[in-house]
Amino acid sequence: MTTKNIQEQIAELRHQLDEHNYNYYVLSHPSISDYEFDILLKELEKLEAENPEFFDSNSPTQRVGSDLNKEFEQVRHQYPMLSLSNSYSEEELRDFDQKIRKLTDQNFEYVCELKYDGTSISLQYKNGILFRAITRGDGTLGDDVTANVKTIRSIPLKLKGTGFPDEFEIRGEILLPFSEFERINQDREEEGEAPFANPRNAASGTLKSQKSSVVAERKLDAYFYYMLGENLPTDGHLENMMAAREWGFKISPDTEKCGNIDEVVTFIRKWNQKRYDLPVATDGIVIKVNSLSLQQYLGTTAKSPRWAIAYKYKAEQASTILQSVSYQVGRTGAVTPVANLDPVLLAGTTVKRASLHNADIIKNLDLHMGDTVFVEKGGEIIPKIVGVDATTRHPMAQAVDFIRNCPECGTALIRKEGEAAHYCPNEDGCPPQIKGKMEHFIGRKAMNIDGLGAETIDLLYNEGLIRNIADLYELRKEQISQLERLGDKSAERILKSLDESRLVPFEKVLFALGIRFVGETVAKILANRLINIETIESASLEELTAIDEIGGRIAESVRLYFSNQGNIQLVERLKEKGLQMQIDEESLANRSEKLSGLTIIISGTFEKNSRDDLKKMIEQNGGKNVSSISKNTSYLLAGNNIGPSKLEKAEKLNIPIISEDDFLKMID
Ligand code: IVH
Repeated sequence: MTTKNIQEQIAELRHQLDEHNYNYYVLSHPSISDYEFDILLKELEKLEAENPEFFDSNSPTQRVGSDLNKEFEQVRHQYPMLSLSNSYSEEELRDFDQKIRKLTDQNFEYVCELKYDGTSISLQYKNGILFRAITRGDGTLGDDVTANVKTIRSIPLKLKGTGFPDEFEIRGEILLPFSEFERINQDREEEGEAPFANPRNAASGTLKSQKSSVVAERKLDAYFYYMLGENLPTDGHLENMMAAREWGFKISPDTEKCGNIDEVVTFIRKWNQKRYDLPVATDGIVIKVNSLSLQQYLGTTAKSPRWAIAYKYKAEQASTILQSVSYQVGRTGAVTPVANLDPVLLAGTTVKRASLHNADIIKNLDLHMGDTVFVEKGGEIIPKIVGVDATTRHPMAQAVDFIRNCPECGTALIRKEGEAAHYCPNEDGCPPQIKGKMEHFIGRKAMNIDGLGAETIDLLYNEGLIRNIADLYELRKEQISQLERLGDKSAERILKSLDESRLVPFEKVLFALGIRFVGETVAKILANRLINIETIESASLEELTAIDEIGGRIAESVRLYFSNQGNIQLVERLKEKGLQMQIDEESLANRSEKLSGLTIIISGTFEKNSRDDLKKMIEQNGGKNVSSISKNTSYLLAGNNIGPSKLEKAEKLNIPIISEDDFLKMID
């Protein structure tokens, strides 16, 4: 593979993962299963590890996912909330076991726990009183949801018994039991609200509710599985959990100690089916080294502990009948076929629809109307059809034939070479595409327009009040307040937020335009390199591809966007409305090419600047951040507490090690 290809592949994977993250965390509408997400993520991790020159601090591999909500106060976790590395086979578990055994000669025990599928929470207790409850957030900062958490009956506000440390943290999973999930969804459907996709989304949605009374009504539950702090009762994880149970915490009764990896495998097999009898959702098993001192010795990587691993169960299957196929048109014009099925119970919920992804999948399945099909659900997400039982097919059954025209606007569909999806090319005239562009534009990571959501966009569009994103800035208060379910208050909030969006930085505006393949990262690169919209508009393919990390596909897409007169006029109107169309003064002033051509790896903690700030400085001065050392690394920027292995490797490869002050001198 050529460098360019790898680079494009990395960019594409990042883009896809960003989209999936957004669907999952922001829209609460996952588009793929955890398993599929993990496969993509692992692929990206591998490519990034092999090609450190393409490191990007904003890559989806660099974060654990975020559920930050600006309505809550954000607080720093005392200990970062790491995630677990996943495994899907016995073999991977045995590898995990081997790795630990290579690091220690000591005899040790594992603890096997159910992996609860809810939303994680960290509780701080001071002198036996619940002090604060923080969501995971991005792992470093989380939302303070104490008021909401206090409504959860199974969480002790005041600890019982004795022996608890003066200060400690306990982490666990907040869950909505299946029975409550069904009850809430029934209520929602009766009230015309969209049902929650699964108990996990319902739990996290509820926890983030602005009204703690709503939380109280929804009978959340919580299981705890991790204690942190000094002066913990014992050196055993399980023993500490047993102590926590005495203090009033809900600890799973299904945790077991295992002497070796064979016993772990037996535990996993035992729960494969049995877990469906539980009142709450689980998606796997967590295997932990029991001894805290051994845990500490084994340590953690940037993202997950070396002393624990998750085993994720394969999705469960069921068979049912294909009734019909409908087609949905998305924001990008991509047409997704959806199978309508005879309702069937699968992993605790009733399935009526399944995604078919694209025409190739339909063809490969050789799908016919009325077929008996096998559906699979990966972690209670949109199920998919994974197989067809052709032996029971009616001889006259009709093959499913992919539609030729857009179901929304009638335009003939196109399929680009090398792409799986069919597209409706009528970008500017196809309603879901127009609305989708607007939804993207107002999104949290884009213009972040408060009070506007998909539903309001829908109403405004259907009323003929907006036809494109620039129209948003011409809305008048009375036009909004007359809409169903909106009033003066919401209208004011929307207008205020639109007004404030004039200050949203250029890179976000560029992202908000919704140019294909220009995700957050690419928008940032383009903004920082080309400085303003005019330069981007007029940049040639050569000029674009000359930029590090901008491949042919992105460049072509940018060119295509700006070769459309309508788009140029749109941008012109946005400019007139006062949106930021160039990078801010400060970024401009701080730019230089002093580090051009240099790749730098940052490690450790620093006194004058945060790691993120240092990374930004590297980028602003034309340098590149990398995450692992190779012979091509120019410098190791070393702070305090830097890992000995990194230092050793740098010395071995003769890579100059510089301090924060050295670095600041370099750019000053
Ligand atoms: S231990 C540093 N134990 O899974 C490791 N996590 O993928 C801390 N989870 O963020 C986590 N059940 O939300 C642990 N028995 C269990 C768990 C569990 C569910 C969740 C938790 C965590 C995620 C990691």
